[in-house]
Amino acid sequence: MSQDSIGRNIMSCVRYIIPRFAQYIARSSAFTTSFVPRNKLNHSLVRNFSTTIPKPKKETITVYFIDRDGDKVAAIATVGTTFLDVAIHNDVELEGACEGTLACSTCHLIFEQKDYDKLPQEPTDEELDMLDLAYGLADTSRLGCQIIVTKDMDGLTVRVPAGVADAREP
Ligand code: FES
Repeated sequence: MSQDSIGRNIMSCVRYIIPRFAQYIARSSAFTTSFVPRNKLNHSLVRNFSTTIPKPKKETITVYFIDRDGDKVAAIATVGTTFLDVAIHNDVELEGACEGTLACSTCHLIFEQKDYDKLPQEPTDEELDMLDLAYGLADTSRLGCQIIVTKDMDGLTVRVPAGVADAREP
């Protein structure tokens, strides 16, 4: 084979490969999204993708507060938050003066016996100590900042005592 014919074969290969390679690049979404203005895009060639993971929707239930005036107030409660959070977010008058650090007892709530019996967490010694200083203590008293909302509490009613005592005050 002469040098001339080898050169011609190489050139015909190059002429065949380069246009096909260019076509492949032009069709690639990486190329089109980077270099082609969006209004000139053939959108059928553009693949949509996202690097963010959709946040799972926060589950909510409805609970009821009997407020200091004796009115029953419906409140949207997000599962996983505390009853103190629920009261604050639904404009129910419940103080929470120590912001849930178990130092005040102003978030005192009184549950109905049937609901109290189903509460997922037993009171800790620290909570019981604070409850001893709460206004209007009852057998079914708990501190709202210590009770986490769970799905099965939907429809539960809880009473806000008529008065409030802040354990931090002398
Ligand atoms: Fe103070 Fe709950 S907010 S003990």
